[in-house]
Amino acid sequence: MNPGQIQHSTVSISLTQYLIQKQRESATRRAASSDNSSRAVSGESRQSGDATLSGESNQYSNATLLGESNQCSNATLSGESNQCSDATVSEQSSNKRNSKPCRDLTVTSELRLLLEVVARACKRISYAVGKGALAGHLGDAGNTNIQGEVQKKLDVIANDVLLEANAWGGHLAAMASEEMDEPYPIPDRYPKGEYLLLFDPLDGSSNIDVNVSIGTIFSVLRMPEVGAEPKARHFLQSGRQQLAAGYAVYGPSTLLVLTVGDGVACFTLDRETGSWWLTQDRMQVPKQTREFAINASNSRHWETPVKRYIDELLAGKSGPRGTDFNMRWVASMVADVHRIMTRGGIFMYPRDARDPSKPGRLRLMYEANPMALLIEEAGGAASTGLGPILDVCPEDLHQRVPVILGSSEEVDRVVFYHKYSVMICHQAPDMRLNG
Ligand code: AHG
Ligand code: MN
Ligand code: MN
Repeated sequence: MNPGQIQHSTVSISLTQYLIQKQRESATRRAASSDNSSRAVSGESRQSGDATLSGESNQYSNATLLGESNQCSNATLSGESNQCSDATVSEQSSNKRNSKPCRDLTVTSELRLLLEVVARACKRISYAVGKGALAGHLGDAGNTNIQGEVQKKLDVIANDVLLEANAWGGHLAAMASEEMDEPYPIPDRYPKGEYLLLFDPLDGSSNIDVNVSIGTIFSVLRMPEVGAEPKARHFLQSGRQQLAAGYAVYGPSTLLVLTVGDGVACFTLDRETGSWWLTQDRMQVPKQTREFAINASNSRHWETPVKRYIDELLAGKSGPRGTDFNMRWVASMVADVHRIMTRGGIFMYPRDARDPSKPGRLRLMYEANPMALLIEEAGGAASTGLGPILDVCPEDLHQRVPVILGSSEEVDRVVFYHKYSVMICHQAPDMRLNG
């Protein structure tokens, strides 16, 4: 290879080609599924949608550990409702995890174009991040957001880029952002669409001024009342209702990691041509890991199950786990999650006792839900400690939630410690659950 020549051997298709392919596959699946339905009506036997399509069984890897079954509710299978079903009404729901999530997998041309616009906005944010001090982009903006956090200039710039890029495309009814108190309806001068876009425009703000990887996180929902004036309540749908989710990482390379509910794909931005190229398809989070990510400065505030889990990891070879664990904490969720998507690990920002009004640090709608969908789609697990993040029924656009996600065997263990913490404390069973 000549010096400076881009190595395209692993580069197969562009983001546009990938999305067109997903759109075609989705149309084929729809056709097959309606075919099956009509056959069922005419007396032939059939199974429920996703199982028939994928041929996969819905097994829960640690079913014996947790003693739970794994059923999709009728509401989520049929895509009938945007409301949380009875089975999924609270963070306290059981830790059901679907190996094949029950979700509407329709990739329409509108959704495809919407995702391309989001990717274009991320490209512009990446360029703004890259300019840094040269463009006067570092430092505080001089105001605070609804969470009371000081906004950085790049928080505001990234928010504006996403709003401006997506306002006129005709695919959206409204947008919601970490940086805006209320939803942003599409202005009357632009055409409206049937989707809702949520984003954390700049994740990892504390790392902006120290030149550490930061990113953007986004989630796409369907507008439940097309044509109505968009309100915050329209966004309050559980994570299982997401039609697409993704994040961009502005690091040594700029990456876009995306799911449309059919696996996770990673695209790398060719900064010279401005194109996104598929560099990893069907990402898989390894089930086991010996790496964890948590802000240990909060340890004195943690609840018992989290303390116990981390203590066991720190005890290493001579502890109950019988092996050494390594710790990493970037303090940009995008970077920590991307490491886990790539080589496994567990990421935790659990509930703690600092402020009872804040059940965790991270926001459900535009941080936890999109990351949980990506992680589940890559074969990992994402829980609040009490149940799957994707089953939390949201009550507020900016609500916070405990986050425990990554390699499934470790997440299952933390959930087990939450569920049986009393029993564990009093009976001290053997902790070598994985043999
Ligand atoms: P944001 O910059 O969007 O407010 O998010 C920061 C989040 C997340 O990216 C990261 O995992 C966490 O906050 C870091 O928290 P600490 O500062 O407590 O380490
Ligand atoms: Mn964030
Ligand atoms: Mn942010």
